[in-house]
Amino acid sequence: MKEPTEKPVFEGLSLAEIQEINAEMTHYEDKTAVSIEALKIVQKHRRWVSDACLVAVAELLGLSPAQLEGVATFYNLIYRQPVGKTVIHYCNSVTCWMLGAEHIRERLCRHLNVGLGEMSADGEYTILPIVCLGACDHAPVVLVGDKLLLDISDDAVTDILGR
Ligand code: FES
Repeated sequence: MKEPTEKPVFEGLSLAEIQEINAEMTHYEDKTAVSIEALKIVQKHRRWVSDACLVAVAELLGLSPAQLEGVATFYNLIYRQPVGKTVIHYCNSVTCWMLGAEHIRERLCRHLNVGLGEMSADGEYTILPIVCLGACDHAPVVLVGDKLLLDISDDAVTDILGR
């Protein structure tokens, strides 16, 4: 029997991920259009999208890795580095910035003993900046996982982590 000489296509993705991405592709005529959903599927399974996974997804969609990287880079909720179980995004756009976003970020980082983008020692949290979340009238705003917290006060760090 002949030994396979090529790497299996889509190496790096689980069967479940491939099936979910294929199912998603049935909803779109253009494979490019499914890019973000495909990356979200991988992220749902792994919390982040590694280079190997990005290449595999690109192969599956028939795109170049560079094309897919462009999508992943543009969409700031796709993580290209390992993150904690909960990602805390603090809005650093102008209104939140004027109303104390940097102070909140400093307190969160100090409390968790992490820098921006790092994972806390217990693997629970990562803090990242994000652009305007569309709730400027309730600034400063923090997105904890998928929960948007409004009107965050200066001393709300424990409250943010508690939720
Ligand atoms: S500037 Fe922060 S929500 Fe708009």
